[in-house]
Amino acid sequence: MGILTVANLGKSYPSAGHPLTVLKGVNFDITAGSSVAIVGPSGSGKTTLLGLCAGLDRSTTGNVVLNGVDFNNLGEDERAKVRNQYVGFIFQNFQLLPTLTALENVMVPLELRGETNIKARSLALLDKVGLAERANHYPTQLSGGEQQRVSLARAFSNSPQILFADEPTGNLDTETGEKVEQLLFDLNKDAGTTLILVTHDLELASKTERIIRLKSGEVWSDEPIALQHGQ
Ligand SMILES: Nc1ncnc2c1ncn2[C@@H]1O[C@H](COP(=O)(O)OP(=O)(O)OP(=O)(O)O)[C@@H](O)[C@H]1O
Ligand SMILES: [Mg+2]
Repeated sequence: MGILTVANLGKSYPSAGHPLTVLKGVNFDITAGSSVAIVGPSGSGKTTLLGLCAGLDRSTTGNVVLNGVDFNNLGEDERAKVRNQYVGFIFQNFQLLPTLTALENVMVPLELRGETNIKARSLALLDKVGLAERANHYPTQLSGGEQQRVSLARAFSNSPQILFADEPTGNLDTETGEKVEQLLFDLNKDAGTTLILVTHDLELASKTERIIRLKSGEVWSDEPIALQHGQ
């Protein structure tokens, strides 16, 4: 069963003279519960593609259908609702709210859903990423890797059905990166969360079930990875 279908997806930005086409004719279908890596050179359109898939931005052509809902038929507010209900997103540049502490940042998605026991649950998530002691620090008081981990805890907080992670280990040392990797794959295996990650790290990409390779805004290759056990 597909949780995400991308059909003939294109994105152009207006620029002086002629529009800059960043994505063209992208097609794929993602099975619920699977893990997928999107790879490709810098500037090939990975972040743009992820943003469109999560309904953060509107496409120029084509469709994104998430959980049976076509984003083209939704306004800004309705897309935000769908995101809060189903989607977790780890941004390449973290996008934490600067006026909120680490803890408050993690609490936001839960508050939006009107859930209970928000503070304790958010603290537990921060603890999971090794940041329980920094709960009351503001983003500017945290290192890049720490901000990345807060962003991870925030993305987990609404138990998303689908998690988009843009370079989730890009700013982390090897040891912390491995921990974060483990958290991502645990969520995928245990909670059945569909995991779509963008990475330049081919070793991380090879731990997913499928690699979609972008080149100049087009799908260059799309291949399943044969799972190797006992290595
Ligand atoms: N708002 C925008 N206006 C104009 N051009 C944009 C905009 N956002 C992205 N681009 C351009 O689109 C192209 C793809 O950008 P994108 O961020 O998707 O690349 P990427 O594959 O994620 O690269 P990286 O690996 O460096 O993160 C780039 O050439 C970028 O300059
Ligand atoms: Mg990017």
